[in-house]
Amino acid sequence: MAEDDVLARKDAFFGHGVVSDPYPKLAEMAAQCPVHSGTYSSYFDMIGAEDILFPDAEQISVLSFDGVEAAFKDQDHFSSSCYEASLGKMIGRTIIEMDPPEHGRHRQLLQGALTKREMNRWEEEFVRGIVDRTIDAFIERGVADLVGDFALHYPLKVIAAACGLPETDVASFYRWAAILTNVSITPVDREEAAAEFGEYLAGAVTDRRTTPRSDLITHLVEAEFRDSAGRQALDDAEVIAFLRLLLPAAAQTTYRTLCNLLFGLLSHPDQLQALREDRSLIEAAIEEGLRWQPPLMSFGRTTVSDAEIEGIPVAAGTMVNLVVGIANRDPNRWDDPEVFDIRRPPQAHLAFGSGPHVCLGIHFARMELRVALEQVLDRLGDLRFAPEAEGMAITGLGQRSPAHLPVFFTPSSPIGTSS
Ligand code: HEM
Repeated sequence: MAEDDVLARKDAFFGHGVVSDPYPKLAEMAAQCPVHSGTYSSYFDMIGAEDILFPDAEQISVLSFDGVEAAFKDQDHFSSSCYEASLGKMIGRTIIEMDPPEHGRHRQLLQGALTKREMNRWEEEFVRGIVDRTIDAFIERGVADLVGDFALHYPLKVIAAACGLPETDVASFYRWAAILTNVSITPVDREEAAAEFGEYLAGAVTDRRTTPRSDLITHLVEAEFRDSAGRQALDDAEVIAFLRLLLPAAAQTTYRTLCNLLFGLLSHPDQLQALREDRSLIEAAIEEGLRWQPPLMSFGRTTVSDAEIEGIPVAAGTMVNLVVGIANRDPNRWDDPEVFDIRRPPQAHLAFGSGPHVCLGIHFARMELRVALEQVLDRLGDLRFAPEAEGMAITGLGQRSPAHLPVFFTPSSPIGTSS
């Protein structure tokens, strides 16, 4: 399959260009009751991944902040094993589908690789350079599509650099990631992509075992600790599976988040200007972008025993869709939740999940987004939508972002290089 075809199929599957604004309907439903039967996709006459993967399961969707947060935090009743059927089947067993105590052990092995301190090193060593070079490629034009020219590829270049893999392989990463996460593509095509990607990574893993470097793959092969069960470490298959998880987990999410944030700022020029004038608002802007338009709408859990959500009984074996998109707009927590406002008082949102499985790449994602936004503010003066942006919107259901962000701007020199 050609790269364009793969990407187009993935976007179509996730409702791009089909579902524009699902929030009014979801808000109306949430106001009636925090828990509804059926998948959230079925409310829009769409067939989502959950419908394909669990056609015979009893399905419910949780639409309130408290309900979604409580289920994320409660590993005793809400299992992550449903990821086995989706991601796990293709990429191998990884942390995302594990329950305690296995999950805790893996989390301990992995989290040292992605600490805030390590992210400061990555930022200086390669992230700023990658973002800068990506902007260099279009800055002279004074016009760009901030999706295709900027946001789409830089997170993968960053992952490649973090893993010590060549940037020239990024096109293959994108293709593999898009195929692996689209359950509407035939299992044969997905298995073929998983195998190709696995073989590619196996070479790098073997190399790092014999010749360690200061990269993420080396960190993973060397990670270990001891507990009552003895020495804990990751074998090659576990490292490869985790690396295969990183691409979809880290690339799609970060790129769509950046696009949504830029869309929010470009369509609210007063807030973009406020950010230019007061860089201390950057962190709040990133969190507000994630709250207002998270890149992924929902996450799954399966009940392992009879449970309750918001006082509503949920039978064992139910497939639970935790719809973070609408939980992030719960009017009991945020005033005018549908409004993008970077000056809101800080409040935790659920775009990164919550509880024991909370996004492992949270510091990584925040750093990448901050660096990208800082460079946009530093280098693209007078940034505004071009006329072709008229009518453009953030679209999609399972995954959401705008298809294009056509802009005009005045190139400015990066800080420190102006004469
Ligand atoms: C803005 C970007 C991102 C968003 C919105 C996001 C969102 C999430 C969410 C909601 C979860 C929890 C899933 C669940 O509980 O079912 C998660 C887990 C995870 N994320 Fe992210 N993510 C982002 C970026 C990244 C990056 C850059 C990495 C790279 C390392 C990453 C790696 C992971 C991993 C490994 C897990 C599984 C953690 C576990 O199961 O304990 N994510 N992410």
